[in-house]
Amino acid sequence: MFMNFRRIRKWHYVQLLTTGLLLSVVMVCWEGLDHHVVSHMRSYTYRYLVNRYDFLNSSFSIPPRHHRRDGADAGLVSYPYLINHPGKCGAGAKDEKSLDDVLLLLFVKSSPENFEQRQAIRDTWGNESFVWSQLGVNMRTVFVLGVHPDVGRRSSVQSALLQEDRAYGDLIQQNFLDTFHNLTAKLILQFHWGHDYCPQARFLMSADDDVFIHVPNLVKYLQELLSRQPEAKDLWVGHVHRGAPPIRRKKSKYHVPNDLYPWPSYPDYTAGAGYVVSRDVAAKIYYATLMLNSSMYIDDVFMGICAKAMGVSPQEHVYFSGEGKAPYHPCIYDHMITSHGHATDLRSLWQAATDPTVYRHSRGFLGSVYCTAVRVMLLCLPYYQNTYSCMAAFT
Ligand SMILES: *[C@@H]1O[C@H](CO)[C@@H](O)[C@H](O)[C@H]1NC(C)=O
Ligand SMILES: *[C@@H]1O[C@H](CO)[C@@H](O)[C@H](O)[C@H]1NC(C)=O
Ligand SMILES: *[C@@H]1O[C@H](CO)[C@@H](O)[C@H](O)[C@H]1NC(C)=O
Ligand SMILES: *[C@@H]1O[C@H](CO)[C@@H](O)[C@H](O)[C@H]1NC(C)=O
Repeated sequence: MFMNFRRIRKWHYVQLLTTGLLLSVVMVCWEGLDHHVVSHMRSYTYRYLVNRYDFLNSSFSIPPRHHRRDGADAGLVSYPYLINHPGKCGAGAKDEKSLDDVLLLLFVKSSPENFEQRQAIRDTWGNESFVWSQLGVNMRTVFVLGVHPDVGRRSSVQSALLQEDRAYGDLIQQNFLDTFHNLTAKLILQFHWGHDYCPQARFLMSADDDVFIHVPNLVKYLQELLSRQPEAKDLWVGHVHRGAPPIRRKKSKYHVPNDLYPWPSYPDYTAGAGYVVSRDVAAKIYYATLMLNSSMYIDDVFMGICAKAMGVSPQEHVYFSGEGKAPYHPCIYDHMITSHGHATDLRSLWQAATDPTVYRHSRGFLGSVYCTAVRVMLLCLPYYQNTYSCMAAFT
């Protein structure tokens, strides 16, 4: 009897403990869920019902006397170049005629220590001679960097960078710490460099160094745009985030405090992993960076703020990925533009995805039915969610 009682008490004790534990887990999750749901509801309501971001102009504008180029003392320093190639887009030309006719200026946001990643990109989608010999257009690829944030490793990494640049001549580096919170400085670097040294490029692309870009599909897409509309104006295309709320959780990498951005949602922007703008949009963004306060350190969002202030809106393209990695399949390769999260597989994917036989699978009526079925399997079932939307299966 006594023994039994003790066993019950013990059992009770365990039960109580488990219940408490479960409850606290639920509470913590509920709290997270609650915040998540509420902040998204608030932000979507704002985005879809109010959709006025006029405050951006006034709140982010800085007084004219503080504009970037006029006053170095305004706290809006443009960082000096440590490595630069002003002649990359043409033979150091002053007159317009000797500038190369560049279709695409491709900026790859890289970190100083990512030597191997850059090499893989040079061997694959960053290869300018491939684009010239196989696709007949000019592309210029440059890697944009700051300096290594770790003082102890900085000088050795820097001399390796100089050596790398002597071999390939494709690094652009400014004197700021290459950290997550300095990505906006890197964004400004890209638009300023494009404005100063490659203003004739028809399109400008910004990409992370862990994406895969199907350059032949991209070039085809851009050429189709040009054939429909020779000026190809007002283009800002990528994977669009609409009505995204600022993240207030302190632990998140993307945390933004209330005093930096007090409003419930960001203006629309494209995922920074890879997006393309036309020449006129690039010029507008350049001017916006001269006039707007760049304290917003999430570069994609800062780009959205600049664009909104200039009256530019992003367009969705179903084959630009946001976070996700594309499924490996020829029926995907024949449409894909970007895919995120690649490192060691860049070379094999490039081989497979740019093989001319890729397009054979979807040829003819049967081919297109087959590929649509495959894409529905790959994109519309929950398994691969987060790369291309289900809609991409039907294009
Ligand atoms: C770049 O492409 C060209 C032309 O297709 C090829 O000959 C060359 O080997 C490629 N370069 C690299 C580094 O892969
Ligand atoms: C950005 O770079 C500047 C210049 O090197 C540095 O002073 C600053 O601390 C960096 N900011 C962050 C957040 O790393
Ligand atoms: C930019 O915004 C930050 C934060 O809102 C503020 O502290 C800073 O003074 C502003 N800079 C300029 C030049 O207006
Ligand atoms: C202010 O913002 C609107 C869009 O909200 C834009 O169309 C307009 O050009 C901006 N004005 C200035 C002076 O930047």
